[in-house]
Amino acid sequence: METIPLFKVHMPESVADPLLETLFSGFIGQGPKVEEYEGVLSKYFNNNNVVTLNSGTAALQLSLRLAGVGHGDEVISTPMTCTATNMPILAAGAKIVWADIDKDTGLICPHSIESKITNKTKAINMVHFGGIPCDIDSINQIAASYNIKTIEDGAHAFGSEYKGKKIGNHSDFVIFSLQAIKHITTIDGGLLLCKSDEDAKRAKLLRWYGIDRDTPRKDFRCEENIVEYGYKFHMNDICAVIGIEQMDYVDNLVKRHISNADFYDKNLNDIDKVRLIPRSSEALSASWLYTLHVEERDQFMKYMSENNVATSKVHERNDKHDCFADSACDLPGVDSFCSTQISIPVGWWVTDEQRQYIVDLIKRY
Ligand SMILES: Cc1ncc(COP(=O)(O)O)c(C=O)c1O
Repeated sequence: METIPLFKVHMPESVADPLLETLFSGFIGQGPKVEEYEGVLSKYFNNNNVVTLNSGTAALQLSLRLAGVGHGDEVISTPMTCTATNMPILAAGAKIVWADIDKDTGLICPHSIESKITNKTKAINMVHFGGIPCDIDSINQIAASYNIKTIEDGAHAFGSEYKGKKIGNHSDFVIFSLQAIKHITTIDGGLLLCKSDEDAKRAKLLRWYGIDRDTPRKDFRCEENIVEYGYKFHMNDICAVIGIEQMDYVDNLVKRHISNADFYDKNLNDIDKVRLIPRSSEALSASWLYTLHVEERDQFMKYMSENNVATSKVHERNDKHDCFADSACDLPGVDSFCSTQISIPVGWWVTDEQRQYIVDLIKRY
């Protein structure tokens, strides 16, 4: 029996023809396919301010810039995430201030956020770990009362919903990753969704050196004055054409993640040795991960591996890295969550038979 993987790349064969057509079209940079993809995504998210980029990390970096984060500022964030969430804060010259997380869900805790706010706080990062939406309204209310911007890291949460609306509509900035193993991929890519039209307009300038690509140009070279420096963060037409094709599949992919997660919720909930993450009635997780808690985790991982099921902690707490040492503080929720959390296969590739096999295996553990 082959091991049931924790992640799988979704690349439909139907992408081959449009991909080859764009590849040999003579235009492979940021062009008509990027524009078309942004149109498709705007409909999907019901948000007109979608900016495509070359990675989720670039989207985070750009949102910090738009939020006005610079040298000497503080950004409140969670260590329970991919390092990509937090590296851009250091790159912006700001200080990371860790807030604690809920020991069961792994999500950043609004009370802890509020207790960490100072007059230097410029932004708050919340990560929808595994796809489970954070308590967005509480965090945004706190942020608004201190005039602080919020950034949602939705890298795990493509298709997740909060209070009946897709993630991508609730905060100043929301980012997604389209890296290889996310719900959908463009090989590499990222999205930034902005609340305000002005931020989206500025993001489109900053993603390409600060140059306005829409003004008529006399020459191939840019003769326009560049008002503020930008980056090379734009998406290209090759990635965009893959992204457009993925959108024909995304609803079914997300549905299957959710169906598998529901199956585990129903069938694993009364087993002594595992503890499930409690669900909120206000949020729907697109379940990029299915994370549960097990006390003797190493032993559980060995057991699952010997029975051909991949498991992983997926992310290590970021605050243990030397590069984040300046932010060290006590985080009992992180200590607790990190000591028992483990993810099992939940994605679109997990069949009915495989999810039943996984449940039976865990029941026998
Ligand atoms: C939580 C989180 N944020 C941000 C990122 C960064 O995305 P990308 O790899 O597209 O830069 C990732 C990537 O895996 C992630 O898991």
